[in-house]
Amino acid sequence: MAKRGWKVLGVVVGVVAVGAASFVGWQAHAFDASLARTYERPLPALTRSADEAVVARGKHLAESVGACSSADCHGPDLAGGKPLSMGPVATLTGPNLTPAGKRAGGYTVPQLARLIRYGIKRDGHGVVFMPVHELSWLPDDDLTALGSYLATVPPVEKPDGETHVKLLGKILDRQDKMPLDVARRLEHVAPATDVPKPEPTARYGRFVAKACVGCHGEHFSGGRIPGAPSSMPIPANITPDASALGPWTFADFDKLLSTGVKRDGKQLDPFMPIDALSRLDETERRALWEYLRAVPPRPFGGR
Ligand code: HEC
Repeated sequence: MAKRGWKVLGVVVGVVAVGAASFVGWQAHAFDASLARTYERPLPALTRSADEAVVARGKHLAESVGACSSADCHGPDLAGGKPLSMGPVATLTGPNLTPAGKRAGGYTVPQLARLIRYGIKRDGHGVVFMPVHELSWLPDDDLTALGSYLATVPPVEKPDGETHVKLLGKILDRQDKMPLDVARRLEHVAPATDVPKPEPTARYGRFVAKACVGCHGEHFSGGRIPGAPSSMPIPANITPDASALGPWTFADFDKLLSTGVKRDGKQLDPFMPIDALSRLDETERRALWEYLRAVPPRPFGGR
């Protein structure tokens, strides 16, 4: 190439590199600025209950639908989960939720209700990574139950683990590929008003199934989770397609939830939080099943 050609190429490469760098810098800045802001959202007017049935409902939600006590979330004793290391995306660890927790311990019922409904922490900032968009449907009674239960768990002195969103994570969040900054997504979403009382129907199952969306995708057809490292297992297609749950019966589904054994007799990858899902009660399992039977069948991978 003539000298001039090289020069032009050099300028083009330079312009592209500067453009890419400023794009990355701008995305990271937007992410940081969004987490640095505080939200003005009043605390829901709910009060702690000491009623045994309410506390028991809260414990059930924490251990099943909410998966709070899942090993990867806040841990079986709620004193903090296992660190989730996602390479260049982020390192995330669910903090200690017991009253001894420095960051997340001792939330009052209204503070917890605001966190779960809108992703807003006690200090007014948005929470990172917690799948509040899967839980924000919980009605007031359930938020009261959950908060009332958490207030009763014994304190466990355990320091909070590392939570650190890295550059790629910030870009994926801003590109809407991975919801890490969840509060900004819920800012203009009105709370669900059409949640029925727990019943074994697709109508209720639609809400319970929100717990599956982060992995199996909004259309439940599975495929690699965007941004996930290749070492992470790929969620299956759970629509009623013939290649997916089409041939399954409720008994197959129930067995999978109870034991983690799939219809083909193989053990489910432990990435799917079966410790929590095995605690779903009969109504929730039936509701989930009815709903998953009713979603449109799709081929694998469209998420
Ligand atoms: C943390 C991610 C995650 C969540 C949350 C999750 N799953 Fe899964 N699920 C997976 C992965 C990964 C697989 C594939 C694992 C394997 O094949 O061993 C899977 C497989 C399945 C299968 C087996 C499909 C088959 O063809 O054998 C069913 C059924 C299923 N999930 C249902 C659900 C339901 C219902 C929910 C919500 C209540 C849910 N999953 C929540 C990750 C998840």
